[in-house]
Amino acid sequence: MSMKNYPQGLLFSDEIQKQVREKFCNVESDSFGKRIFFENSGGSLRLKACIQAVADIDSHPDCLGRHQAQADVLDAIVKKGYEDLRIIFNTQKGSIITYLSASQVMFNIVGAIAHNVKGKNMVVSVLEHPSGFDSVEYYAKQTGRELRVLQSNPATGCIDVDEVIRNVDKDTVLLSCMYSSNTTGGINDIEKMVEAARAINPDVYIIVDAVQHAPHGLIDLSKLDIDAMDIAPYKFFGCRGSGVGWVSDRCAKLPHNRILCYSEDTWELGSTAPHVFAGYSAIVDYVCWLGSQYIDSADRRTLFEEGIHRIELQERGLLHRALEGTAMLPGLRSIPSVQVICDNPDLTQRDFILPITFENLDVTTAAKEYIKRGIYVFERKSPNHYSKRIVESLGLDGVIRVSPIHCNSPEEVDAFLRATMEIAKL
Ligand SMILES: Cc1ncc(COP(=O)(O)O)c(C=O)c1O
Repeated sequence: MSMKNYPQGLLFSDEIQKQVREKFCNVESDSFGKRIFFENSGGSLRLKACIQAVADIDSHPDCLGRHQAQADVLDAIVKKGYEDLRIIFNTQKGSIITYLSASQVMFNIVGAIAHNVKGKNMVVSVLEHPSGFDSVEYYAKQTGRELRVLQSNPATGCIDVDEVIRNVDKDTVLLSCMYSSNTTGGINDIEKMVEAARAINPDVYIIVDAVQHAPHGLIDLSKLDIDAMDIAPYKFFGCRGSGVGWVSDRCAKLPHNRILCYSEDTWELGSTAPHVFAGYSAIVDYVCWLGSQYIDSADRRTLFEEGIHRIELQERGLLHRALEGTAMLPGLRSIPSVQVICDNPDLTQRDFILPITFENLDVTTAAKEYIKRGIYVFERKSPNHYSKRIVESLGLDGVIRVSPIHCNSPEEVDAFLRATMEIAKL
C-alpha cells in the first residue's frame, strides 16, 4: 500500500482501535488517575505482552547452554528474539548488538569506526540526540579529526540532502544522521542522503539513529546501503533497559571489545537475558497481529510491514486532526497564540512528534498546564544538554513536544485541542 495515497492518513476502525488499546498497559490512566499520554517520544506506552514476558521468562534462573530442557526453552527464546530483530531491520547480513541503552550501542559503534577507519573529518547532524552527536564529537576529538555539523532546515525540521553534499568529502570517516528527529518529527530522506554521500565517498561509514522513527515508520536495511543503525525497544512499545544496534559486515569486523572465543564479528558481551529477547518478539508479534487484521500472509516480514504501515496511517490521521481540527474544534494551526514549529505541509515526511510554542507562555509553564489538565507532554528546552543544540538550530530556545502513538484515539486528540484552547487564553 502506498503511504502517499493517504496524505491525511487513515484512522483505525473503532474495532481495531479498541483491540489495539486493550493490548497496551496504562493507556488511559496511571497511579494518579486518568490521563492522556502524549509523551511517547520519552518512552512509549508499553505492550502487556512485553511485561508478561518478563514475569514468565525471567522467573526461570537457568543459564543458556545447560543440559536441562528449561535451558533449551530459553535458548529458543533468544534465537527467536534475534530472528525478530532481523524482521524489524529486514536484513540477514551484518551483526546485531544488544546493550543496556541505545546510547551505549551508538558510542561503541562510533568508537570502533573512529579508531579503525582512515580519514580526516567526521560528519554529524545538528539534530542528533546526544548519543549520536556527543559520540561523534568525543571520538573526533580523541582521534584528531575535524568535526563537521549538518545544519537543519527550520521549515521542515529535517536535514536537507544538500547539507550532506556540502560536508561529506573524500576524507570523511563517517556520516551520522538520524532517521527522524525526536524534537521536530521530521523524517530525513535517508535513501537520498546515502546515495549522495556514497557518490562523493563510496567508502564512508554511514550510521543512522532510528530510535524515534522505528515505532512510526518502516525500516528496510535491504534497501539502505549503510553501516549501522540503532533502535530502542522502550520507544517501540517495549521495556526500558535495552538498546539494539545493527552493524554491516565490514563494520562488525572492525576491532571492538569482545570475548575472544567468539567470531570476530560478534559484539555481544556477557550473559544474555532471555526475557529481553522475548520482549523483542512480543513487539514483532504485535505489529504482525495488526498487519494480519488487514492482509493474509504466512510471511512475518510482510505482516510486519503492513502493521507498521497501518500505524503510520493512523498516526498521520491523528496528526492531521491535531493540526486541522474537526467541524467542532479548531486545529493547532488556527488557535490564536499557538505556533506549530517545523510545520511541513507534507505529512508523509513527518512522524507524529510535534513541536509547538505559545505566545502567551513559556514552554515549561505550558507543559505543566497540560499536565494539570491530564495531558502529559514535555518541553525540550535550552540550556538542557538534550535540547539546546537542537532547538537553537531551529532558531528557538524551547518547544513543547507532543508525541502520541497509534494507540491514542481521535477523542484524545480532541481533548488535547480543547486543553490547548484553554491554555492559549491564560
Ligand atoms: C533519537 C534518539 N536517539 C537515541 C536515544 C537514546 O536512547 P537511550 O536512552 O536508550 O540511550 C534517544 C532517547 O531519547 C533518542 O530520542
